[in-house]
Amino acid sequence: MIVQIGKESHAWTRADLEGKLAGYARVLIDVGTGDGRFVYRSAGAHADTYCIGVDPAGERMREVSWRAGRKVARGGRPNALFVVASVQALPEELTGLAHTLTVNFPWASLLSALVLPEAPVLEALRRLVRPGGELIALLNQSVFDDRPYAARLGLPELSDAQVEEVLRPAYRAAGFAIRESALVEGDMPHQTSWGQHLTLASGRRTRLLTAEAIG
Ligand SMILES: C[S@@+](CC[C@H](N)C(=O)[O-])C[C@H]1O[C@@H](n2cnc3c(N)ncnc32)[C@H](O)[C@@H]1O
Repeated sequence: MIVQIGKESHAWTRADLEGKLAGYARVLIDVGTGDGRFVYRSAGAHADTYCIGVDPAGERMREVSWRAGRKVARGGRPNALFVVASVQALPEELTGLAHTLTVNFPWASLLSALVLPEAPVLEALRRLVRPGGELIALLNQSVFDDRPYAARLGLPELSDAQVEEVLRPAYRAAGFAIRESALVEGDMPHQTSWGQHLTLASGRRTRLLTAEAIG
């Protein structure tokens, strides 16, 4: 798999990754990580967790991956890693690692795969997670509330009924049992760059979707 470290990209094997994971109790994988700040912050807040951000746009992870690579005293995060990949082509090296899988404010093909939903993508996400692990997704509900706009993007409705009738069975077939689907009231569970951007735009609504990896 391709790992972004500052301006450079490196090819890592599963053995390279396992060498880094040794000694950590938990693994978090954040798909569609964007600028990687959520992963950098999570790594700082949870010293027992190895945090992996995944995004096809490697150049957007340059700055944070450079910061993470410095000495700890200078803001380094030895427990943070940034992988260049899309959800449609996730590296085998990440299989079965995640205790927690997060997808924060996805857009484009990552968003449509979660809400249409697309079985191959759900199955690929499921392969990242250990049995009993959790999926936590934050979805920009306002995109769906503007029906003409959502329709132009080819997005379906995103309502409680749609989650029950369409998403729940499809997620279950992929090995995710949906636990919760609700609009977020109060503080966001994850502080991310895009989440902060949306919070500044008044009236934005966010849906929290959580699921447990089963089977
Ligand atoms: C609105 S940004 C959110 C970034 C970050 N999670 C945050 O909350 O700040 C959406 C991200 O989804 C990523 N993305 C879009 N399509 C993707 C795909 N097919 N696979 C993986 N990531 C994708 C984009 O590159 C972008 O970084």
